[in-house]
Amino acid sequence: MAQQILTLEQFISLNQPTFPGGVGALTGLLSQIGLIGKFLAHDLRRAGLLDILGTTGETNVQGEAVKKLDEIANETFVRVLQQSGLICALASEEMEKPIILSRDGAQGSYMVLFDPLDGSSNTDVNMPLGSIFSIVRNQRPDQPLSERDLVRKGTEQVVAGYLLFGASTMLVYTVGQGVHGFTLEPGIGEYLLSHKAITMPARGKVYAANEGNYQKWPGGTQKYFDYLKVKDKATGRPYSGRYSGCLVADVHRMLLGGGIYLYPGELDKPEGKLRLLYEANPLAWVVEQAGGRASTGTLRILDVEAKQLHQRVPLIIGSADDVLEAESFIQGRRM
Ligand code: AHG
Ligand code: MN
Ligand code: MN
Repeated sequence: MAQQILTLEQFISLNQPTFPGGVGALTGLLSQIGLIGKFLAHDLRRAGLLDILGTTGETNVQGEAVKKLDEIANETFVRVLQQSGLICALASEEMEKPIILSRDGAQGSYMVLFDPLDGSSNTDVNMPLGSIFSIVRNQRPDQPLSERDLVRKGTEQVVAGYLLFGASTMLVYTVGQGVHGFTLEPGIGEYLLSHKAITMPARGKVYAANEGNYQKWPGGTQKYFDYLKVKDKATGRPYSGRYSGCLVADVHRMLLGGGIYLYPGELDKPEGKLRLLYEANPLAWVVEQAGGRASTGTLRILDVEAKQLHQRVPLIIGSADDVLEAESFIQGRRM
């Protein structure tokens, strides 16, 4: 028998998740994110044609074509979320300062932090891209908001997830009751439930990292990578290397099939490259909700103290046993 067809909205209402603010608010928030995904998928499908067709019709005085896609993606997020009535503040990788919405109009109680386009170097070569979002609640609705109010620990997230623009467009999210994945059916413009209650294997056979950085890594990290390549049938080594340059796509692979993604700290840059609030935290929560693990190498990502909006953090994320093993090398407990 054919499987039941459920749209994103139907799934939320049927499952009645316990969500602070109610099912209506969650449906509203995820519908807005879904709408952003439709706009971006539409833009990205034409990415290779931008030079020929132009994008939004905007050209500067020199007649130069248009904006970069990460700026377009950022504007799409801001425009859609600003008018949703659910949001009071927005922060993005592409904006140095957050946008605090005026208290006059209808203002919601949620704050969205996002990476509007993840893996942007893939844009020009027709490879996968993503968007990542993390939603927290305004703790002080009766007081004026400031940047500080958005800088919150990963455990305080109320919704987190990502959009993946691959061969198809997907929306994957968690509210702390498992992880669910929806695929956009472009013909009808609806996200349909395609991956219910995703659980990841405790161990995988795949690793993803930019190994060009090997010489920059501390000894423990190097040893872990050396270990992954040793032939050993019993532990399934050597692992296969699969790195797309898009964190969302690589983590999505691990979420469905198991494995480990690493962007570790470097000797001269111990904080690593990725951003805590809108890259590491949301993906960490998604992966934990699917039974995986996310760590800096020494600390659970969701427990990292958030100090700055654009704070960086090392990220080791994926199947629980693989991440535990990486930690033991990084911490020098295994050599
Ligand atoms: P972004 O496009 O948002 O700047 O993120 C890129 C991130 C991530 O998606 C990817 O895994 C990693 O940076 C790639 O970095 P390297 O080019 O250093 O491998
Ligand atoms: Mn990114
Ligand atoms: Mn980005």
